[in-house]
Amino acid sequence: MSKSPTRPHGPATLGVHGGAGDRTPGSPVVPHITQSATFHWATPEDGELLYSRYGNNPNQVQVGLKAAALEGTEAAIALGSGMGATSMALLALTSSGDHIVASSRLYGATQTLLAQELPRRGVETTFVDPDEGGWAAAMRPQTKVVFIEIPTNPTLRILDPRPIVALAHGRGVKVVCDATFASPVNFRAASVGIDVVIQSATKYLGGHSDIIAGIASGSAEIVAEITRMSRLYGPALDPHTAWLLDRGMRTLDVRVRRHNENAMAVAMWFESRSEVATVIYPGLASHPDHELASELMDGFGGMVSVVLAGGGEAADRFMRRLSVGMAAPSLGGVETLVSQPRFTSHASLSREVREAQGIPDGFLRLSIGIENAEDLIADFEQALGG
Ligand SMILES: Cc1ncc(COP(=O)(O)O)c(C=O)c1O
Repeated sequence: MSKSPTRPHGPATLGVHGGAGDRTPGSPVVPHITQSATFHWATPEDGELLYSRYGNNPNQVQVGLKAAALEGTEAAIALGSGMGATSMALLALTSSGDHIVASSRLYGATQTLLAQELPRRGVETTFVDPDEGGWAAAMRPQTKVVFIEIPTNPTLRILDPRPIVALAHGRGVKVVCDATFASPVNFRAASVGIDVVIQSATKYLGGHSDIIAGIASGSAEIVAEITRMSRLYGPALDPHTAWLLDRGMRTLDVRVRRHNENAMAVAMWFESRSEVATVIYPGLASHPDHELASELMDGFGGMVSVVLAGGGEAADRFMRRLSVGMAAPSLGGVETLVSQPRFTSHASLSREVREAQGIPDGFLRLSIGIENAEDLIADFEQALGG
């Protein structure tokens, strides 16, 4: 925004106006799409050299400023995917010989990056099961980063980041948190001391399941280093996609509030059904982290997980019968999407390991959309075969 606000603006206002500067008469209310790879420039006297791989295309800059405003950080960079944001942040914060401590409950590709890819570049990770603890014991003199996810996929556990941040900062270690499932409307991770917040903007920020994008937010110094990495490795966000992401972010607050409301209604309804063995939703008093979620977050989110008593067959049947909800992976769009982690994010694990992680056959992950809750409930009722 062009003028400093007299009081900090709320997320709905920041979603609409954050990062937008030009209010001179005749300038467009909606930013132009600057669909140009390169920009006129002759010598350094012409100022900063603009190039759309550099992250300084006006659409990329604008959406980064909006994301920083929403997260409450000094800076942010918008990149070509959530994994682009995660991998550039980790490359920026580590060098060969360094060590990472990570939660064992992470998005599958992040886990693979940490467990298999970064070791090939001389960076090792020790995984900590958040239920068992042992964060301090996992730290080494070479530890540079702690990586966590809040809430976790697909069991929707809420990890308390505050003791982890205190431990890490006491040793000069940075904490990175993937807060995609919450979005900055429900949880602003930087407010509890997280150094780098990752969003897969493909999900709630974009909000329409039509773009792939990611955001890394943090201090100006860290974001500058992430920007340096991304200029070299190249996962830039296309300007048109940046513009679409900005359009999505304008309605982030209203969408997330509706996702929260619908998910609560659906979770309560599932709890009343005998076909459902377990309902996992941080907003329910039965959730193991309900109190922590209430303290830490402004909303419980749009993700609900259930375990059907009839196991895998019942889950397959439920998926095939959906007529409002859609059977598809991913999350955070306006439409309700349902997936089975045993076939998607956790397909590489044996049934025993999955069960030990609380993901038995019959486990459905629902990204509850913004449809009418009654229509979703009626759809789920017929899909259960009731
Ligand atoms: C929690 C989380 N983080 C990161 C990602 C990766 O995001 P993207 O697909 O935009 O690279 C995903 C994708 O599903 C995710 O669920």
